[in-house]
Amino acid sequence: MKSNMEQDILKVLYTEEEIKARVQEMGDALYDQFHDKNPLFVGVLNGCFIFMADLVRASQMKSQLEFIGLSSYQNGVKSSGVVQITRDLQSDIHGRNLIVVEDILDSGNTLAFLKKYLLAKGAATVNIVTLLDKPSRREKAITADIAGFIVPDEFVVGYGLDYGQQYRNIPYIGVLKPQVYERNEE
Ligand code: IMP
Ligand code: MG
Repeated sequence: MKSNMEQDILKVLYTEEEIKARVQEMGDALYDQFHDKNPLFVGVLNGCFIFMADLVRASQMKSQLEFIGLSSYQNGVKSSGVVQITRDLQSDIHGRNLIVVEDILDSGNTLAFLKKYLLAKGAATVNIVTLLDKPSRREKAITADIAGFIVPDEFVVGYGLDYGQQYRNIPYIGVLKPQVYERNEE
């Protein structure tokens, strides 16, 4: 397959096949826990978009879905700590059982903010599903209810995850070559 992005990838962390198998396990676990609760999936844009599409199909349960836009990055590799809502929810979440879908739990700033926000809006329960978890960098006391893979402290891209809005369309998860972001930080 042609690609002008591969050259920026240091190594592959999880292949397409590994991701698919793990997402199916996560979908099965969600089915068991939520199939009689008409849950509402809440995807955190933009990073969730590929994972969310696969996860809702893996879960095969009656459910609804929604998106929220949040931003804590100024296109860099570190969280600024300040979370902004860039696109709000479009439906009433009062009394609903929510399944928050996030690409990666890193400092925890984004999800700590979001969980508080959703509970303040009247959600009955908030479950957090993250594809990747980077516990070594946590600043807020927040844990995922389901995490796909625990990743080391390296900057990863692909399968929805970006650097400067690029690389989201790489089908696997890989570590970005540090020279790619170092050349932008000079
Ligand atoms: P947190 O608020 O620090 O937990 O960061 C969560 C957000 O930071 C994620 O939704 C990602 O958009 C971004 N992020 C954190 N680590 C990485 C990474 O290794 N690659 C790409 N994006 C990341
Ligand atoms: Mg991002």
